[in-house]
Amino acid sequence: MKILIIHGPNLALLGEREVAVYGRFTLEEINSALSDLAKKEGVEIETVQLDGEGEIVEKIGKARKEFQAIVINPGAYTHYSVAIRDAIAAVGIPAVEVHLSNIYAREEFRHKSVIAPVAAGQISGFGINSYILGLKAAIDLIQK
Ligand code: DQA
Repeated sequence: MKILIIHGPNLALLGEREVAVYGRFTLEEINSALSDLAKKEGVEIETVQLDGEGEIVEKIGKARKEFQAIVINPGAYTHYSVAIRDAIAAVGIPAVEVHLSNIYAREEFRHKSVIAPVAAGQISGFGINSYILGLKAAIDLIQK
């Protein structure tokens, strides 16, 4: 069982970036917590951080043969990338959308996710735990 974790644009800057919103933990710390959970659950994960919309589309497109589920934080692309939305719909493997911050408690332009309608579900607002819950949800989806 293999799950792809995609961190979208600007998430390499976690730990330094808008710490009041995103917290002080780094991407490495998130990935290491995800690895611990994956080991415990007996699943394999691959984590990748991509800034480019096209790179994310490409990665999702190639995921079908190798992965059974995707956990994705699309970053700002959440709010407008029809290309990422279409890629998720096209591959037909379940995707769990995660956000560190509660996008509905922030600026109005963040209230809309174009990804949510094609995602299996969305987890938003729990910081690092959004990813942990997202990975648990993905594992559960595959096991069903
Ligand atoms: C984010 C929320 C987005 O609105 C923002 O553009 C991000 C991070 C989050 O994890 O809370 O880059 O996806």
